[in-house]
Amino acid sequence: MPNSPLLSLLADGEFRSGQELADALGISRTAVWKQVNRLTEQGIEVESIKGRGYRLPGGLELLDEEQIRDGLTGESAALVRRLVLLERVDSTNAEVIRRLEAGEPGGLVVSAEQQTAGRGRRGRTWVSPYGRNLYLSLAWEFSQGAAALEGLSLAVGVAVAQGLSDLKLPPVQLKWPNDVLFEGKKLGGVLLEMTGDAAGQCQVIVGIGLNLAMPAAAAETIDQAWTDLETLAGRPLPRRNAVLAAVLNRLVPLVAGFEQDGFATWRQAWLDLDAMADTPVLLDTGSERMSGTARGVNERGALLLESTSGTRAVFGGEVSMRSSA
Ligand code: BTN
Repeated sequence: MPNSPLLSLLADGEFRSGQELADALGISRTAVWKQVNRLTEQGIEVESIKGRGYRLPGGLELLDEEQIRDGLTGESAALVRRLVLLERVDSTNAEVIRRLEAGEPGGLVVSAEQQTAGRGRRGRTWVSPYGRNLYLSLAWEFSQGAAALEGLSLAVGVAVAQGLSDLKLPPVQLKWPNDVLFEGKKLGGVLLEMTGDAAGQCQVIVGIGLNLAMPAAAAETIDQAWTDLETLAGRPLPRRNAVLAAVLNRLVPLVAGFEQDGFATWRQAWLDLDAMADTPVLLDTGSERMSGTARGVNERGALLLESTSGTRAVFGGEVSMRSSA
């Protein structure tokens, strides 16, 4: 992938003097300095200390196709037809949609070091700084339309949690419909988009964002309680390529079997990870706000909200915790 050679030289997180970098790159020290400034402008934190040189605090593990492919097993190794790694893109979901429209088939995975317009649910922006977190989109073709895909986004949350668990990371939880939480704070999110015929042959774009080591400066723009894998697991951080492969190893079999299996086969696993089970919550559907107690989800992935007027199955919205019942 088209990574800057300067970034590759600094990727281990150690200090390199301006001269050392200039020699390695065959350019002047002033040119090194200019390149460093360009990286900073792109939101990449480069520390510069007089007499020691430059370093990337914490280092970087850049995305690497060979490492990701090496980590893929079974169905994912066979079914990920194309793995596209980009340095910078508006949104990996948007890129997948463009590629599908240009005729690329499903089984396509796009990931990027940085998103400049990462999309979150409900029109939010997904904060996507360079080289620290994971942004990944998978395109999959389905033949039975949207109705057969009910609950898919919840099942994706389960697959992400399982992928992290395969890496022996501390257990995460899910918040309906598909936020990945650790200690009540958001570690990751899932955004499904669809193209094609909603009643038949369609393609689903499964977009997953996972915070691995969110830089403080980027975090300032996040408008909700967040966390990252670094907080959860400490250092050394699980390697980005390994995390990406582990998530795909759970995600690909899920999408491959979903039309046949449906959410019913994932429901118990989702309930086991439910962060809001039996908790007083507020639900905002966009048009309505309701309070009640969250009682898990039904076989279609709808939230079961219990209130004085009975239990309602809710298909869309956002829940937040309420302090009292
Ligand atoms: C949410 O708001 O919880 C969903 C966030 C989804 C973010 C991911 S990052 C990869 C993919 N590309 C996007 O633009 N969004 C999703």
